[in-house]
Amino acid sequence: MESAVELVVAQDAEAAAALAAGELVHAARAGLHIALSGGSTPRRAYELAAAAEPDWSRATLWWSDERAVPPDDPRSNYRLAREALLSRLAQPPAAVHRIRGELGAVAAAAELAAALRDVELGLVLLGLGGDGHTASLFPGKASVTERTRLAIAAEPGLEPWVERITLTVPAHCAARRIVFLAVGAAKAEAALRAFGGPPDLATPASLVRSTSGSTLAILDADAARLLQR
Ligand code: 6PG
Repeated sequence: MESAVELVVAQDAEAAAALAAGELVHAARAGLHIALSGGSTPRRAYELAAAAEPDWSRATLWWSDERAVPPDDPRSNYRLAREALLSRLAQPPAAVHRIRGELGAVAAAAELAAALRDVELGLVLLGLGGDGHTASLFPGKASVTERTRLAIAAEPGLEPWVERITLTVPAHCAARRIVFLAVGAAKAEAALRAFGGPPDLATPASLVRSTSGSTLAILDADAARLLQR
């Protein structure tokens, strides 16, 4: 039985980032396998997590999705984490499993799927798109219905228009803890559908719930506006 999603509403984006940073720090100290997300929202959470705990030597890092670009590309999700988190640590993680976007989406996804076999993700941090996507699981795209593989190449559904590599719905749902972080009024409608309604293929984030653990959505007041009515 899938767990329901727990909602936490922070007063603003900074407070929401601090809560997400706390989740990351807890997982890093516990030596878990942690999957990071991309987009712009997690940047502040990464900075706060690095400041709160500079020793990540017990943690192993993964990503829930990546753009098919080299690691130095401004669109790279790895690059965001390197700038905001990894470069600020005194003790780096035990292992960093960057998704190698420069291989092309199909090869990078196959490499990721093979590396993830037999790995239990202890924490997956995810964002939410205004269209209800999460990771690179976009509404109406074939990636949303993949049920067998752990990671696949995926078409973009929004900018940047570059091929993606994404963990699939079942790979996400196998994680022990899933934490969504979404802030701002532009996310309010998607948050209502993702966290206040039934599972729906048109809102991929609504399909991502930990099967054996817990799922938390950290929202700021603007993103939670329609859920609080
Ligand atoms: C990506 C993401 C994606 C992101 C959302 C939210 O690679 O684009 O992982 O799923 O989390 O699009 O992005 P923002 O934080 O920029 O709003």
